Amino acid sequence: MSTEGVRIRIAGVGKEFGALRVFQNIDLEIGEREIVSIVGPSGCGKTTLLRCIDGLVKPTEGEIRIDGTAVTGPPRGVAVVFQHFGLFPWKTVYENVAYGLRLAKAPKEHIRESVPRHIELVGLKGFEKAYPYQLSGGMQQRTGLARALATDPHVLLMDEPFASIDAQTREILQFELLRIWESRPMSMVFVTHSIEEAVLMGDRVVVLRGRPSSVHEVIETGLPRPRTRDVLSSPRFNEVRDHVWSRLMHEAEQAERELQEVR
Ligand SMILES: Nc1ncnc2c1ncn2[C@@H]1O[C@H](COP(=O)(O)OP(=O)(O)OP(=O)(O)O)[C@@H](O)[C@H]1O
Ligand SMILES: [Mg+2]
Repeated sequence: MSTEGVRIRIAGVGKEFGALRVFQNIDLEIGEREIVSIVGPSGCGKTTLLRCIDGLVKPTEGEIRIDGTAVTGPPRGVAVVFQHFGLFPWKTVYENVAYGLRLAKAPKEHIRESVPRHIELVGLKGFEKAYPYQLSGGMQQRTGLARALATDPHVLLMDEPFASIDAQTREILQFELLRIWESRPMSMVFVTHSIEEAVLMGDRVVVLRGRPSSVHEVIETGLPRPRTRDVLSSPRFNEVRDHVWSRLMHEAEQAERELQEVR
């Protein structure tokens, strides 16, 4: 746990969709200025858990609190960057970035000040009038990030934000996001399929496992901040990455064995 207080408290949370029990007994606390990465096999409920934190999905059991208040609907100050960019194709970059602020009924002057600032922050100055189809995948994801950041969130939920982006752009965006995060205090939950990304971003890495899934292990990365590229070649980074990798491989082997038994 980071030095400051707890921002998000997930206590005994479980979710069922009809007969499907996705996860159960999830207990997790996320600090005010902490990045927690979540990894786990496809379908284990990572997106569902983010939706529970964002109040879009109601847990079947347990409770989630943000700054002490139980989440019963979309809470203020929480922003999401979606697995698939989630931009409106008929809106320009400017209008996409302004969307969250307009939704929150922010004053016009604030929108006029905040939107260009955030477009510049993610490196998209000059593309204000472009439509998503005129942008590369990386630029679309930057737009999604600017839209989330423009609302000045204290909780940022990231659902595999860089999954559909080429490796080079991905690395650039990872470090840009870390730079932005350094400059403003935020709790971040970062869901990813990339073990390297989970370790690079996170103060802790949560491994979800099983069917229904639950928290199998929480690993403190213990890597220094601010994170620079040097981190990627440090012995500690390799050690944590290998550890997380072995945990997930175990899960994959277990699933394979279960499949064999069914056959
Ligand atoms: N609205 C819904 N109604 C019914 N079932 C759902 C719903 N949303 C998710 N599920 C099911 O819940 C399970 C978990 O889905 P979820 O999208 O949270 O997984 P995930 O860990 O994010 O997977 P991925 O890594 O592929 O993104 C899946 O079996 C999915 O089919
Ligand atoms: Mg998902």
